[in-house]
Amino acid sequence: MSDVLVALDVPTLGEALALARRVEAHVAGFKVGLELLHAEGPRVLREVVALGRPVFCDAKLHDIPATVARAAARLAACGVRWVSAHALGGPAMLEAAAAGLAGTAGVLAVTVLTSHTGDNLAALGIACPLDEELARLACLAAAAGAEGVVCAPSDLGVVAAAAPGLLRVTPGIRGPGDAADDQARVATAATARSAGAHYLVVGRPITGAPDPAAAARRFGVGFEGTLE
Ligand code: C5P
Repeated sequence: MSDVLVALDVPTLGEALALARRVEAHVAGFKVGLELLHAEGPRVLREVVALGRPVFCDAKLHDIPATVARAAARLAACGVRWVSAHALGGPAMLEAAAAGLAGTAGVLAVTVLTSHTGDNLAALGIACPLDEELARLACLAAAAGAEGVVCAPSDLGVVAAAAPGLLRVTPGIRGPGDAADDQARVATAATARSAGAHYLVVGRPITGAPDPAAAARRFGVGFEGTLE
């Protein structure tokens, strides 16, 4: 049983479905992110859901609570399993997201983006240490009814200690020889699993591979040793 959610970061529904079908035997589910959602609209969610796997709609909601509740309800109607919302939107907004999903899907709170470092956060006026910010946002997410958090591999220990009941979904996964791309805090699948990730989000190392199915298989549980 795989714990990999493949990020279908492609611009068209056709490419997303072709990619999903190539890798589906080796993955737990799919993530639809901003590029695909904005290019194709909610029909892409219904089409990917129809493949029969859990779908994480990475909508990264961040607005006033009423707007977020209504947007979340529209996404839940497409049959997705999880929807992301920025924890920085605050407790009322996260509660509104959960209310909008009405129990049919769970909120995954985005804590600190994997592209951020402590220095970036300081430039945004978040002066406390990264771990302190992470713990605060994880506790806030749990109290507001989120099912889980999206956090970087290096954040897993802090998040698990601060809010042990939350599902931990972790992007920023790379094979030992892979480029980090724009991710600032990356780790291998084996490292993320041993640090307590429940699901791994993997994009470019699978979607950009010459053989995405083979790459997806290598990121699966127990196959880490075959990664190059
Ligand atoms: O290609 P790569 O493996 O870096 O893709 C990571 C995916 O996870 C992207 O779709 C990105 O939007 C998403 N993500 C992330 N960091 C977060 C939340 C989501 O990289 N904190």
